[in-house]
Amino acid sequence: MSYKNHDHLINKIKKTGVSKTIVDAMDNLDRKDFLTKNKELAYLDRAVNSALNSQPTLVAKMIEYLDLDSINVVLELGTGSAYNAAIISQIVEYGHLTTVERIRDLYFRAQKLLEDHYNVRVVYGDATKLILPHKFDRIIITPEFNNRSVVDTLIKNNAATFCICVFQHNGALIRLTKVFDDILEEELILVKK
Ligand SMILES: C[S@@+](CC[C@H](N)C(=O)[O-])C[C@H]1O[C@@H](n2cnc3c(N)ncnc32)[C@H](O)[C@@H]1O
Repeated sequence: MSYKNHDHLINKIKKTGVSKTIVDAMDNLDRKDFLTKNKELAYLDRAVNSALNSQPTLVAKMIEYLDLDSINVVLELGTGSAYNAAIISQIVEYGHLTTVERIRDLYFRAQKLLEDHYNVRVVYGDATKLILPHKFDRIIITPEFNNRSVVDTLIKNNAATFCICVFQHNGALIRLTKVFDDILEEELILVKK
């Protein structure tokens, strides 16, 4: 049995008020293709197998707060199902996305799912320890790290001179805007569990 359908999910995304670019990018994808199991739950606004696949409206809001431009160079920590990566890659059509996953099977799965996305590189490893070859002007962290020093180190190692980073911390969505050595920190919304 399938609960709801794709259009139901996209209407839910529209109601969050995110940009048309994000709605269109999500509309172009079938979330079912990204789930490893419980595919009948694909069109519900909830995380499915939540360690791997986030709630769609949360995905949409995190991307909205990243304030993406088509030329951005983006780092995603936590590829998981690759759904988020497939959305972002469409928005940064002249830019680039590097997405990092530390679970080997998910890494291989994401490589396959994203093989037609010419501007995406999937990297296997622990993103908090990898040294990546360049800096990023946008960083999105999809698992919640309640140890803030992990997030701070990730930003220190990977953020370009100007960088926007969105992540969850202690049940809230946080955005950091870094300009040279100055960092503006905003608590945006509480994340419902
Ligand atoms: C909430 S899920 C990802 C959701 C996903 N981005 C989506 O599109 O729905 C979090 C993912 O982060 C991965 N992860 C957690 N810590 C990590 C780390 N230090 N480095 C790389 N990946 C990590 C997990 O294995 C998991 O697949």
